[in-house]
Amino acid sequence: MCGIVGFAGSEQAAPILLEGLERLEYRGYDSAGVAVVSPERGLQVRKSKGRLKVLEALTDGGRSLDGCVGIGHTRWATHGEPNDVNSHPHLSQSGRIAVVHNGIIENYLELKEFLTSQGTVFCSDTDTEVVAQLMDYYYLRSGDLMDAVYKTLHRLEGAYALGILCLETPDRFIAARKDAPLLLGYGEGCSFIASDVTALLRHTREVSYMEDGEVAVVSADEIVVYDAMGRRVEKEHRIVDWDVSAAEKGGYEHFMFKEIMEQPEAVRKTISPRIRDGRVVFDELKLGADFIRSLERIFIVACGSSYHVGVVGKYNLERLLRVPVEVALASEFRYADPLVGPGSLVIVISQSGETLDSMAALRLAKSLGATVLSIVNVVGSSIARESDEVLYTWAGPEIAVATTKAYSTQLVLLDMLGLFFAETRGSVSSADYALLLSELQALPARMESVLEDTEKIKYLASRYFNHDSVFYIGRNLDYALGLESSLKLKEISYVHSEAYASGELKHGTISLIEPGTLVVALGTYTPLFDKALSNIVEVQSRGADVLALTTESRAQDLRRTVEHVLTVPDTHPILEPSLGIIPMQLFAYYVALQRGCDIDKPRNLAKSVTVE
Ligand code: G6P
Repeated sequence: MCGIVGFAGSEQAAPILLEGLERLEYRGYDSAGVAVVSPERGLQVRKSKGRLKVLEALTDGGRSLDGCVGIGHTRWATHGEPNDVNSHPHLSQSGRIAVVHNGIIENYLELKEFLTSQGTVFCSDTDTEVVAQLMDYYYLRSGDLMDAVYKTLHRLEGAYALGILCLETPDRFIAARKDAPLLLGYGEGCSFIASDVTALLRHTREVSYMEDGEVAVVSADEIVVYDAMGRRVEKEHRIVDWDVSAAEKGGYEHFMFKEIMEQPEAVRKTISPRIRDGRVVFDELKLGADFIRSLERIFIVACGSSYHVGVVGKYNLERLLRVPVEVALASEFRYADPLVGPGSLVIVISQSGETLDSMAALRLAKSLGATVLSIVNVVGSSIARESDEVLYTWAGPEIAVATTKAYSTQLVLLDMLGLFFAETRGSVSSADYALLLSELQALPARMESVLEDTEKIKYLASRYFNHDSVFYIGRNLDYALGLESSLKLKEISYVHSEAYASGELKHGTISLIEPGTLVVALGTYTPLFDKALSNIVEVQSRGADVLALTTESRAQDLRRTVEHVLTVPDTHPILEPSLGIIPMQLFAYYVALQRGCDIDKPRNLAKSVTVE
C-alpha cells in the first residue's frame, strides 16, 4: 500500500524524494509528505492531503527544503482519515524523530495508552505516530538512537516498513522491516530505500531486499544492516534488469492503456524462453517428476485479479491433469483451516509478490507441509523469496492500479504449467499437447490483432458509459472471464457490475434485469456456445441491452440475435480467456475515460495491498 522512499547523498534530498514518490504514487495517493534533515536547518517536515503535486507546490519541487538526507511517503489511509495531520512523516513530541511507515501496528492503542500515561500528547489518529513517539520516549532516556529503535521494534506487533530520521544524526537515516516490503538501493556516493524498485530505477539498479527483523543504517557512502538481535548482516546485492522506460508512460495518456498494448510482448517474453523443441521447459523448477506424478491435490491461492487467473486455472488444470484443484481467496484460505498437507501443491499467484493475505496463505501452507510454487512478477519480492519454487511472469513493471499485462502473463504461465504437469503425468495426449502448445505460441500475434481495432469498443463504451449497473454473464471459462471483466469495469469506472455464471441467472439475478439493463454476454468458450445463446435470449426478452463477445467463427450465429457483437480470433477453447480479456479491458478503459475517472489511480484503491 503506502509508498516509502529514503535518500542519503551529497545532493539536495527533497527533489529526489519527490521524484521517487512520483513513481510510487500508485501504491497510495491520498496524501504525501517528506522529512529532510540538515545540520543547519534541523528536521524539516512538509506534508499534505491530496496528490503529490500539492506537496510539490508546497515545497517548490523540494527546493525549499535543505539537507541531503531524508525520507518520503505517499499514503493509503488505514488509521485516520486522509488529512494533513494524519499524513506521514510523523514527528515525535520533542521534534527529534520523524517516521514514515507502511503496514499496520496492531497494538497501537495499547502503546498509545502507555505513552499517554507517560505524558505524551498525540496529534494524529494514526498507528504510525505511536512509533515516532515510542522511539522518542526511549531515545530521550538512553540518548542512543539504535537502542531506542530496537526497544521500539520489540514492542511493535503487526507489519511495518519504516524510514526513521533523527535530528541529531543528520548524516543518516534508519530503515526497518517486518512483513512489509522494503529494499535498499546502492548508488554512486548515495544510498536509497524504497518500498518498490520502480522508485530507484533512475538512480541505481543495484539493490538488496530487507528481510523481516532487519534494521539498516543508511548513509551516503554505506548501508549497514543488522538482524533482529543487532548482529551485522552481509546482504546479497542484486541487479534489477527492468528498463527505466518500462516504468514511464512513453507518450500514452494512461499507464493502463500502455500496459494493455504491451500485452502481446509481455506474453511473448513469458512464453518463448520456456518453449524448446516443441516442449514446455521450466529450467527454474526443481520439482521432481515423482512429486508431480503423485500430486493429490492442487490449491490456487491469490487475491483480486490474480485470484481470477486462479479461477481459469481451476478449469484448465483439472481438465489437463485430472487432479482436484481448489481455488481460494487468500484472505479466506488463511483462516479456513484448509485441508492442505505434504501431498499438496499450493500455487500462489501475485503480481507484486507482496500482497499480505497471499503471503500469510503461503506461510500457512508451508507450515502445513505443502509445497508452495508461486507465480510472481516482481523479482525478489517477499512471496518469491519465501516460496519453494518460483515462476516469474516477465511482464515488466506494471504501474496502473488495474492490472492488465500481469493478469495476461499469469494466465499463460498457469496454462504452461498445466501442460508441463500433464506431460509428466501422462494425462494429455501428444496430439493435444502439440496443438495446445502451438496455439499458446500463436497467442501474442492473435492478441496483436485484437488490439489493432479498438474503434468499435470505443464506440460501444460511448454508448453505454452512463449505465448504472452492468451484468457479465458466461459459463465455465466465460464465467471466469466475466469475473475479471467485471472487476476491471468497477474498479476504474465506478460502475456497479457483477459477474454471474449464466446458469445461476434464473436463481435470482434475472429479477434485476429490466428494460435497458446492460448485459455483457461472454460466449468465447465455444463448447458451450449454444447455452450462451439461450441465456442471451432470456435476458433480451426481459428488455436487456446485450453486448456480446464471441470468437470469429461463431460471430455470424450471434449477429442474428444480438446487435452489438465483439469478436476475438479462434484458438483452442481453453486459451480463449487470454484473448477475450482484451476487449473487456478496453471496454472498461473507455467507459472510465468517458466518465472522466482517474484511470491509473482509481479512488480508494492501491496497487499493492500490504495490509489486511
Ligand atoms: C490489488 C490490485 C489488483 C491485484 C490485487 C492482488 O487489488 O489492484 O490489481 O490483482 O491487488 O495483487 P497481487 O500483487 O497479489 O497480484
